[in-house]
Amino acid sequence: MARAVARIDAAAVERNCGRLTATVGDGVELCAVVKADGYGHGADVCATAALAGGASRLAVATGAEAAEIGRRFPHVSLLTMGALTEVELDTALAAGSDVAVWHEEFRVLAAARARAQGRPARVHVKHDSGMGRLGNRDGEAVVALARACAEDPDLALAGVWTHFATADEPDSEFFDEQLARFAEVAGAVRDEFPGVTAHAANSAAVFREPRAHFDMVRCGVAVYGLDPFQGDPAERGLSPAMSLCSYVADVKCLAPGDSVGYGCRWRAEEETRIGVLPIGYGDGVRRGLTNNAEVLVRGRRHPLVGTVSMDNVTIDLGPETEVEPGDEAVLIGAQGEEAILAEEVAARLETINYEITCGVSARVPRVPA
Ligand SMILES: Cc1ncc(COP(=O)(O)O)c(C=O)c1O
Repeated sequence: MARAVARIDAAAVERNCGRLTATVGDGVELCAVVKADGYGHGADVCATAALAGGASRLAVATGAEAAEIGRRFPHVSLLTMGALTEVELDTALAAGSDVAVWHEEFRVLAAARARAQGRPARVHVKHDSGMGRLGNRDGEAVVALARACAEDPDLALAGVWTHFATADEPDSEFFDEQLARFAEVAGAVRDEFPGVTAHAANSAAVFREPRAHFDMVRCGVAVYGLDPFQGDPAERGLSPAMSLCSYVADVKCLAPGDSVGYGCRWRAEEETRIGVLPIGYGDGVRRGLTNNAEVLVRGRRHPLVGTVSMDNVTIDLGPETEVEPGDEAVLIGAQGEEAILAEEVAARLETINYEITCGVSARVPRVPA
């Protein structure tokens, strides 16, 4: 019995990586993206499982994440993908991480910081093929920047890369446009520097388009068994790695007309029993789930009723129930024959599964499943 706990199935992460490496085939590396504490699952445990499952590299977003992962996995190739302040750049380089470069000023800075640290910095030149976020939009400038990196004794040109904006939209033609633009730039860079790793695909792109695989794919969401298209992960052979559980702390009887929770936002229409679960938005159970979710107890779905508060939610058990205080409650995950996917919770909140698992707060211990 635990107040609120996220059970992490490392074996599922390992299997998901096996599924991804089988999809891309030999000769294409899998880089497991473990930023934001492994999408809320725990970066350390998930990186270990991903490497066991066939990932050969890891990626993070920030300097602090690079320091943590670099310390824990000193012999694994690491890429810090985000924009870095000068302090973060130093931290990432000291951690042995590759860094992203997309304009000349940052290239010069990276070379200077690498010289100060006494070893060349491995850099991946980023093409903004259409995301409109990080990267250089000018393909010729990307090739020139790659040349400048290769010629600089304080830098080692390690990669050329981009990121897709619409890989998860199966009918998107914009995806094909981005792919065509990047293929041209990556081709030009690799003509001059054949050893450079070209990479573009996130999880969705891995499943939708083999031409997007290049030399390496960078997968996050699928590593954790979440569906990149917001459907059922099982349909793509993926197993969810996180379950979010609490327990029934109390069962009480309500008369018709009685209310539960802040603002009396739910009232019993008939006599019923209410289960009180000591988990709430302080744990990442979003307030938007007020009167808008289901929770598993004894293998059955029960509606979440009343306002989600910081430390409690309430569920309607019906007038006759076998549920007792101490029973396990599952807000995300499987129990008996039933399962509530992160994708279902995301749909209720009009968001994506990424935000659901990343949103499970630091107050919730991550424990092995
Ligand atoms: C640059 C970059 N590459 C790869 C990924 C992994 O994407 P996904 O989790 O959709 O596989 C992300 C995640 O947001 C990213 O920002």
